[in-house]
Amino acid sequence: MRILAVSGSLREGSFNTSLLRAAIEAAPEGVELELWEGIGELPLYDEDLEADGVPESVRRLREDWGAADAILFATPEYNGSVPAGLKNAIDWASRPRLEALLRNKPVAVVGASTGQFGAIWAQQDLKRIVGIAGARVVGTEIPVGRADEQFDAEGRLLNGEIFEQLRLHLTTLASEAVAASDRVAA
Ligand SMILES: Cc1cc2nc3c(=O)[nH]c(=O)nc-3n(C[C@H](O)[C@H](O)[C@H](O)COP(=O)(O)O)c2cc1C
Repeated sequence: MRILAVSGSLREGSFNTSLLRAAIEAAPEGVELELWEGIGELPLYDEDLEADGVPESVRRLREDWGAADAILFATPEYNGSVPAGLKNAIDWASRPRLEALLRNKPVAVVGASTGQFGAIWAQQDLKRIVGIAGARVVGTEIPVGRADEQFDAEGRLLNGEIFEQLRLHLTTLASEAVAASDRVAA
């Protein structure tokens, strides 16, 4: 079972990327979580580029996200919603409409912000956006608030309760991925 972990932050010291690193540690047996980077290389979505043959960065996104059994997104909150770069990646992944790789893809979200609400609005928006793009969204949100107090200087998660929530979240996501592949096989 291969789950891609995609951070919505491009920042070197991102708390969301650190949260995904903790999720890699928390993954239940049989689940391999792999950090995917590449959001920052994507051009802004332009339908004309579809006609001309998509850029290499988009081809890589579609190939990698398409091949994954499931995707775990970690989103920061920018002005009450999802960062533009993450939304842009999802727009690319949602086309071509009928063969879009997000269709029926099991997806879960988590999020960290330095505010007290832990990117909850961004996570809710993200679930709505990927759901509209056709993904099968599972689990609730995991809001990690005051993120600057939840990790040590090396970016290691200090909060054991959040670690357990990540493990549970991944267990739910992995079960959905198994159910999805059973449906394809049936
Ligand atoms: C443009 C911008 C807008 C932000 N808006 C919000 C917000 O609406 N809510 C919030 O809780 N934090 C907000 N923040 C603070 C982020 O939560 C904080 O920068 C966080 O560390 C970003 O995630 P990262 O560490 O993964 O990069 C904002 C930060 C930026 C740069």
